[in-house]
Amino acid sequence: MININNMSDKDVIKEQYKNTDNLRRRKSLHEKYSVNKIGFQRWMFEQYPFRAKIRILELGSGRGELWEYYWEDQVLQSYEMDITISDFSEGMVDHLRQYHAGRKISVEKIDILDIPFEKDTFDLVIANSMLYHVRDIDRALSEVKRILKKDGSFYCSTLGMNGMTQYLYHALDDLGIPCGHGSDLSFTLQNGMQLLRKQFDRVERRDYEDALRIDRVEDYVEYIYSMASMRGLDRKNYDRLLEYFNARKSDGYLYVPKEYGMFVAENGRGGISGER
Ligand SMILES: C[S@@+](CC[C@H](N)C(=O)[O-])C[C@H]1O[C@@H](n2cnc3c(N)ncnc32)[C@H](O)[C@@H]1O
Repeated sequence: MININNMSDKDVIKEQYKNTDNLRRRKSLHEKYSVNKIGFQRWMFEQYPFRAKIRILELGSGRGELWEYYWEDQVLQSYEMDITISDFSEGMVDHLRQYHAGRKISVEKIDILDIPFEKDTFDLVIANSMLYHVRDIDRALSEVKRILKKDGSFYCSTLGMNGMTQYLYHALDDLGIPCGHGSDLSFTLQNGMQLLRKQFDRVERRDYEDALRIDRVEDYVEYIYSMASMRGLDRKNYDRLLEYFNARKSDGYLYVPKEYGMFVAENGRGGISGER
């Protein structure tokens, strides 16, 4: 049985993110086949309330590509913001150090469950597509709240339960391949608001409209095999999956729904969001 609970099993997650290979494979599927050409990363980047001299921490940075938009933007660089990017995986941290070598950006190895900074340190904390990997979500969010300044903002993106994941589970059901249905995902667009409200006074959800339009179904099946939650999926199912998805093409394309978005969480009065 494929176990969706793997999504927050620390050993499985560390193995999956020991280097950048799986992440790169998944990113390229989105880049190649997404209907919304803005791109989720750029959309997110455009939401952040950047301003001069603020202190920023990104958790679970992965390949660190979000910051490419920063290096392309001379105005943003003139803000002289103090930026730290991080990940709990040694392999990702090595990659981040090489990728951003020689640039004015700090790279640290940090587990969101135990953030090595004093309270009230950051104006902006970012955590993209990583909270659903964390089992003790309340502790993670209380760590974020602790290191955020009173008027700081937390921007975290995640997936929803009506997107790619549910589409895939439905397909596995049809094929008689046993799997859980993701109801145990620790942090989604559906439960995120409630979880964040335990720690933050104001929480807002922002959605990114998108879908995949795929002509080469092999790319999608390889993507499925690169997912942490699909670790138990036997390679012998490869051809069955290909046949299943090819049969669902319409006018030469397979359409896969996506549901991604972010939450903006703040405390106290004011907050810095919207001041960009
Ligand atoms: C799906 S990737 C997202 C990477 C990047 N934020 C992005 O949006 O492309 C999840 C990342 O979170 C990291 N991660 C998972 N659990 C973590 C934890 N407890 N603390 C810090 N990073 C973690 C993984 O190593 C991986 O790099």
